[in-house]
Amino acid sequence: MTDKTFSLTNNVTGDSVELPVHQGTMGPDVVDIGTLYRNHGVFTFDPGFVSTGSCESQITYIDGEKGVLLYRGYPIEQLAGKSNFIEVAYLLLYGELPSKTQLSDFSGSITHHTMINETPLRFFNGFHYNAHPMAMVSGVISSMSAFYHDSMKIDDPVHREIFAHRVIAKIPTVAAAAYKHSMGQPFIYPRNDLDYCSNLLNMFFSVPCEPYEINPIAAEAIDLLFILHADHEQNCSTSTVRLAGSSGANPYAAIAAGVSALWGPAHGGANEAVLKMLNEIGSVENIPKFVARAKDKNDPFRLMGFGHRVYKNFDPRATLIRDMCHKVLKGMGGAENAPLFELALALEEVALKDEYFIEKNLYPNVDFYSGIIYRALGIPVSMFTVMFAVARTVGWVAHWLEMISDPQGRIGRPRQLYTGAALRDYVPVSGRD
Ligand code: CMC
Repeated sequence: MTDKTFSLTNNVTGDSVELPVHQGTMGPDVVDIGTLYRNHGVFTFDPGFVSTGSCESQITYIDGEKGVLLYRGYPIEQLAGKSNFIEVAYLLLYGELPSKTQLSDFSGSITHHTMINETPLRFFNGFHYNAHPMAMVSGVISSMSAFYHDSMKIDDPVHREIFAHRVIAKIPTVAAAAYKHSMGQPFIYPRNDLDYCSNLLNMFFSVPCEPYEINPIAAEAIDLLFILHADHEQNCSTSTVRLAGSSGANPYAAIAAGVSALWGPAHGGANEAVLKMLNEIGSVENIPKFVARAKDKNDPFRLMGFGHRVYKNFDPRATLIRDMCHKVLKGMGGAENAPLFELALALEEVALKDEYFIEKNLYPNVDFYSGIIYRALGIPVSMFTVMFAVARTVGWVAHWLEMISDPQGRIGRPRQLYTGAALRDYVPVSGRD
């Protein structure tokens, strides 16, 4: 709390309200309206939470005007260049970079929790082979609520930690099982001699009949994408996890709610939508036609992978992913993916020079280039959002842990502006026209 206050005046009664103002470590001042209804009988109205902070958090900071993203204070560029996904996961969960021993213990714990119980593994057989993998993943994660009764007390910090390690360890196994089921191939069990991302690649692409060699560039690319996708403060899916978890629901159910929220094309589903859009555009000559459609108010088409609620300058993640795109296509000989990348670069160039996109501050976001990397690695388009979910599970868990251990935590319960029918009397059917 600061000494500052913010005044609101009721023009009819002339009453004035002094609201307290909070100041975070960084970022704009935050007006505290918590007592507004109790003391003054009014709600605020903010569809889409454009000007509303839903919680206090110490995990991630974004400055959308300057294109800054920090995890626990560390710039994303430094973490992407010097760290790895497991270390970043530790940082997000525990708040500090680990010592050597802490990192080795954490990494060992994650590695030794990667197998999933055989029973949920069999749930996949209940899905049709062409079920969307996000449906399978959210279903199987949710069903984990029915296992692990030994460690589900949400008010016990030890149980919470076991849950955190379990779900982060098992989500790649669940994702790979969804992929294998859709391919009609046998599930591949995790290998404890591999790091997190190499193990994921092995579970996706190895088959029992021949050896599979893990390409180190592929593992490096996944590791980078996972670091960049690991957290993004109060985005739609993370807010969903917090809201679902605020009722005291078990944490697997809360994570499954996050997976479902991530699926939509305005959120994590955008990487899938970008690839579909690039295929639809087809070649550089068609770019002006699609850019014109994106600007046409009467056409619902939008340039997927462009624009962001918070970033109004550039998305620092997009820049890092674009560089990795070059490396993957060069290093893995992905000649067949090069034209798609060229098309994406050309589309970015056209859009960034266009008055409409400049005026509305629309820049490529994290999803614009990630799909091109995933495709070059052989990951099918329908699995792109699942890959996002694997990485974002770390952020969801960090936020769930923060929410559940907040002594001021309450159930999330927004209010509304009611515009339905006013009070009226019931009319029996015989009396209706
Ligand atoms: N193409 C064309 N016009 C756009 C686009 C776009 N991609 N994005 C926003 N606009 C326009 C929009 O029509 C609106 O114009 P006007 O003010 O004239 O009505 C203005 O820009 C502001 O857009 P908005 O929809 O009010 O902004 P928002 O903050 O509610 O939405 C967004 C942000 C990311 C949902 C939106 O930019 C969008 O739909 N982008 C495409 C989907 C996408 O790439 N999503 C991934 C987001 S990043 C990863 C993640 O969150 O998971």
